Amino acid sequence: MAKNNVSTFVSAKHNNEKITMLTAYDYSMAKLMDESGINGILVGDSLGMVCLGYKDTLSVTMEDMLHHIKAVTRGAKDALVVGDMPFMSYQTSVYDAVKNAGRIIQEGLAGAVKLEGGVSVYEQVKAIVKAQIPVMGHIGLTPQSVNVFGGFKVQGKDESKAKNIIEDAKRLEEAGAFSIVLEGIPYKLAKIITETVSVPTIGIGAGKYCDGQILVYQDMLGLFSDFKPKFVKSYGNAGEVIRKAFKDYIAEVKEGIFPDEEYSFKMDDSIIDKCIKEGV
Ligand code: KIV
Repeated sequence: MAKNNVSTFVSAKHNNEKITMLTAYDYSMAKLMDESGINGILVGDSLGMVCLGYKDTLSVTMEDMLHHIKAVTRGAKDALVVGDMPFMSYQTSVYDAVKNAGRIIQEGLAGAVKLEGGVSVYEQVKAIVKAQIPVMGHIGLTPQSVNVFGGFKVQGKDESKAKNIIEDAKRLEEAGAFSIVLEGIPYKLAKIITETVSVPTIGIGAGKYCDGQILVYQDMLGLFSDFKPKFVKSYGNAGEVIRKAFKDYIAEVKEGIFPDEEYSFKMDDSIIDKCIKEGV
């Protein structure tokens, strides 16, 4: 498969080809996704919830993100790796935004960064793009605004909020974002946005009219059970497979079945006899 980059994302939209993305946070999973032919891997700040056990994404730091972005970029050969900018790494100033985006590219070796917001982060996006760093926008249900939204709620259902989200998308395009994640918005609103902007939209809980889709892999594989959003389709119950394997292992160790000879190292009997004779 050809290597994915920001240009292949943009041309996919123009060629009417759907873009596929998943989140990943470590080397092995990134490798599996890459080998499966995924177009893009987002090292999302959902890391905070699905890997680190926080109740939301707000506690995730730049160091947390870099640690995981580095692992994913080692595993992904063909997928475009997008590194998420955590809370407070870009809201504070344009300078912080460029500096931290630069770390994601320079230290994490990601191919692009993602940040949340539209109109409110226009200057940041413009400056990051000016620094030659591709930016993926993210609007709608932006999890870093959970305290403002009063929970993880679908956004853009009323007229003024819908218009604000359309404006956010237009401003991101104008600032130079190469694609935009649409999260947790009605599918008809996602359709309008997808038809309005020239850059690809990547949906999560935003319906089928987006140019691409992204899911958090723990959600689609049944590995995260704290809550299951309505938009998540199950593509397998890896949680059950893993739980059974753990139980089988525990039982076999307790019963002395594992490890048997097949899983043990051998040595010459004459050497062990010598050791015993010499009382070592
Ligand atoms: O952090 C994340 O995983 C995300 C996706 C849900 C788009 O932002």
